[in-house]
Amino acid sequence: MPVHEIRHPLIRHKLGLMRRADISTKNFRELAQELGALLTYEATQDLPLEETSIEGWCGKVPVERIAGKKITVVPILRAGIGMLDGVLSLIPSAKVSVIGLARNEETLEAQTYLEKLVPEIDRRLAMIVDPMLATGGSLIATIDLLKQAGCKEIRALVLVAAPEGIRAVEAAHPDVRIYTAAIDERLDAHGYIVPGLGDAGDKIFGTR
Ligand code: PRP
Ligand code: URA
Repeated sequence: MPVHEIRHPLIRHKLGLMRRADISTKNFRELAQELGALLTYEATQDLPLEETSIEGWCGKVPVERIAGKKITVVPILRAGIGMLDGVLSLIPSAKVSVIGLARNEETLEAQTYLEKLVPEIDRRLAMIVDPMLATGGSLIATIDLLKQAGCKEIRALVLVAAPEGIRAVEAAHPDVRIYTAAIDERLDAHGYIVPGLGDAGDKIFGTR
């Protein structure tokens, strides 16, 4: 099953705080980063480990370290930036590939305006971050682009997902796992998630 709705109490509590209509930019931003870190914790549970040893205070000590593919975090501009530091707080050495996409608010189609991928992205695990998965157009366009660049393992971290968007991503890219803090009810006539968070980019950047 490619969708994981993470029902951890801290995640549910923090997401509940984000849904308040009168939330300040500062609080919305802080919570988006905190949830970015908590989702990262969940989305990395199965990363492979390898055994090694280090020189400890009493001699050699067997320890484990993360093995396998290196990671690139892929924030979708703008709103994905709002989760990026939270993700990097747990994976500080990850490289960052930036994709700029804007949804045409009439057609709801995602249009790419920036693509800055790290070298050797084909050898990395890509972790896409974007608070909102609505129609799925932005996430599908990003996955298309990453696959064209050679990425073989892709995961997506979102704060709120609409069932319509999940179905669209599953149909287009059944191999991509989605980690979300909530699966909400539906999309409204303008493609906004209900109950959702409103316009996440505007709330993170204070442009509403
Ligand atoms: C929002 C959001 C997603 C996209 C989701 O970005 O951050 O990227 O919409 O909608 P979709 O699933 O229907 O594609 P938006 O285009 O509003 O840009 P912004 O982040 O710059 O505000
Ligand atoms: N983009 C947002 O910021 N919010 C939505 O509900 C849908 C798209």
